[in-house]
Amino acid sequence: KRIAIFISGRGSNMEAILKQVKEGILKDVCEVALVFSNKPTAKGLAVAEKYGVPTAVIPSKGKNRADFEREVIELLKPYRVDYIVLAGFMRILSPLFVRAYKNRIINIHPADTNQFKGVGAYEWAFENKLAETKITVHFVDEGVDTGPIIAQRTVDLRGATTLEEVEKRGLKVEHQFYSEALKKVFSGEFNRQNQE
Ligand code: GRF
Repeated sequence: KRIAIFISGRGSNMEAILKQVKEGILKDVCEVALVFSNKPTAKGLAVAEKYGVPTAVIPSKGKNRADFEREVIELLKPYRVDYIVLAGFMRILSPLFVRAYKNRIINIHPADTNQFKGVGAYEWAFENKLAETKITVHFVDEGVDTGPIIAQRTVDLRGATTLEEVEKRGLKVEHQFYSEALKKVFSGEFNRQNQE
């Protein structure tokens, strides 16, 4: 499968995926055709270049959603990607875009999407002193963090006394788990159509 990874910042999940494509569980399962960012300053862009992956930026700032998304759709065309993998992409995709890639956009959310949607999931887990939280990998539908769940994994938060520790434990799980969930989708083991 050919994929595009969408980022807006640090890109640690993107890097974890690039590693697994290079020499891990995603080797021979998918190819990263493009890393796309809506932010020119995203740190992850330099990381993607280090891995020799093509990168592209279309700034979303100051642009209306429809114009931005149409540009992104045009940009993507020649790359002929099968899936779009969101990894810390902080721009909500409208139905216009979601329909163009129906059932082919995947996101990682650092909480159980049934319990907490939107930004600030680790803060939420920390402030509520949760003993555990869940990482969710899901298909993107027209809502925010409402799409069909592909897989979830628990993060043990017992004894985590700072927000930094909560994030550290969560990200460690994210980095391993995202590639595993993607593998299920790309290898056909998990099929959205079969779920309907
Ligand atoms: C991760 O916690 C991810 O789950 C959320 O945003 C964060 C992105 O981090 N959607 P990174 O850019 O992958 O380092």
